[in-house]
Amino acid sequence: MLEPLGRRCGAPELTVPGDEQAVARHMAAWLTEKLNLGAQGVRAVCLSGGTTPRILYDELARPPYREAMPWGRIHWFWCDERFVPATDERSNYNTVQKLLLERVPVPREFIHPIPAGSGTADAAAAAYERELQRFYGARTLEPGRPLFDLTLLGIGEDGHTASLFPGSPLLNERVRWAACATSAGAISRVTLTYPALESSRDVAFLVTGAKKRRIMQRIVDGETDVPAAMLRPVGRLHWFLDRAAAPRGA
Ligand code: 6PG
Repeated sequence: MLEPLGRRCGAPELTVPGDEQAVARHMAAWLTEKLNLGAQGVRAVCLSGGTTPRILYDELARPPYREAMPWGRIHWFWCDERFVPATDERSNYNTVQKLLLERVPVPREFIHPIPAGSGTADAAAAAYERELQRFYGARTLEPGRPLFDLTLLGIGEDGHTASLFPGSPLLNERVRWAACATSAGAISRVTLTYPALESSRDVAFLVTGAKKRRIMQRIVDGETDVPAAMLRPVGRLHWFLDRAAAPRGA
C-alpha cells in the first residue's frame, strides 16, 4: 500500500453546483475570477486531458468568459499527453486547441504543448521538463513560488490523475517534473509528476458522471492508495463535481 506523499489533508472539500452544465459554468466563472485576481503579471495554467473538461473548455470560449479572461497574460501547459501527433483526435493538445485556444485571443507563444508524436516519449518528457524549467527560471521548485497559478485535473475510475496510475513507480517520483508513463491502453503517455502538479497556487479537480461516484466515495472515505487523492498541492485544493459524481452526503 503506497503511503500518500506528504502529510494527509483532511476530508476533501467538495463543491457540487448541480448538473454537468452547472459545474462547467461555475468553474468557468471561478477560473476567470482567479486568473484576474492580483497583480497584472503573467499567469500559468496547466490543463487536464480526457473528456470531462471538454464542456469547460467550450464554456470558456463563450461569453461572458471569452471577454472576461485575461488571455494576453496566460501561458497554457498540459498535465499529460498521449504520445500521438498533435493532429490526432486523441491528443489532449488537439482537444484544447479546437474547443478553446483557436477561439480566443491567446498569443501563440503562450501555448506550450507537450512535444508528442515524434521521437520517443522519454525524450519528449525530458524536453518538456526543460521547457517548464525555462519558463520557471530555475531547475528546483520552491514551495513559496509555485510553477502554476492553476492546475486543472481529472480522475479516472481507477483513481489515476494525469497519467499517474495506481501502482506506478511514478507515484514515488519526486525529482523529475515530467516522465513517460505506460497507460492501461497501448499508447505511451508523457505526464507531469507530483512535484510539478503540486507546484500550483490552486489545484482544481473536475469530476462528472455517475461512473466517477465510486472513486469519489473511496476518496471521501479516506482510502490512501488513490493517486488523485495523494496529491499535496503547495496551494489550495478544490474538487468540483456534478450531482451524478457526488458521493453520499456531498
Ligand atoms: C488524460 C487525462 C486523464 C483523465 C482521466 C479522466 O489524458 O486522459 O489526463 O487523467 O483526466 O483519465 O478521463 P475522462 O475525463 O475522459 O473520464
